[in-house]
Amino acid sequence: MTDEQDTEKVIITEEDKTYLLDHDYDGIKECNYPLPFWWVGIFWATIIFSVPYVIYYHMGSGKTLLQEFHQEMKIVKLLRGEGVAQSAAVVFDLEAFNSADLALGKSKYVQLCAACHGKQGQGSIGPNFGDKFWLHGNSPEQILTTIKDGAPNGMQAYKNMLKPAELMAVSKYVKSFEGTNPANGKAPQGKEY
Ligand code: HEC
Repeated sequence: MTDEQDTEKVIITEEDKTYLLDHDYDGIKECNYPLPFWWVGIFWATIIFSVPYVIYYHMGSGKTLLQEFHQEMKIVKLLRGEGVAQSAAVVFDLEAFNSADLALGKSKYVQLCAACHGKQGQGSIGPNFGDKFWLHGNSPEQILTTIKDGAPNGMQAYKNMLKPAELMAVSKYVKSFEGTNPANGKAPQGKEY
């Protein structure tokens, strides 16, 4: 039995022949088998996934890892009290918040704050957030600082109860009440903004 016969017998079936490519290197032939369907499926899925990914994260409003990092660093600075008040360096961008942040803010608000500030921010023991009057300022940094460090008359400090991201999210949620003038709102307190 020659080597050639042996090879033919063992390796090449009729079905294999349909995949045989037409080149031949020193007797070595190659079959172009189709890839498994799951492999091809994953391959195409990653390509399809990449299109909205690039649009959302690189061209749209999605935060890239670097942007998330910078935002977290701003919070760290704020929480350490570095340049809190008016410093432009730590202006944190409320517009950059997405719906997931708002949902987190809402859940913390309902759980911890609504008892004193009302579900609609209308106020009861604590001030009304739906008007344009604020005791401790209406800038995002000031709102965050009040929540973080607390205020007189029963507004406790939440810096040890809420994580940085939660403090940011709840600040955003509080700010979102401004100007909504909820029904049965508590009388204005503080200064008009
Ligand atoms: C036990 C009641 C109580 C709870 C609970 C409470 N607050 Fe307050 N909050 C107050 C009071 C009272 C004030 C007014 C402080 C003052 O007189 O200076 C206040 C003030 C504030 C202010 C400043 C408002 C302004 O006009 O400047 C913000 C912002 C605020 N609270 C947010 C929150 C958030 C967010 C939570 C939940 C994480 C929360 N509060 C939970 C009672 C409460």
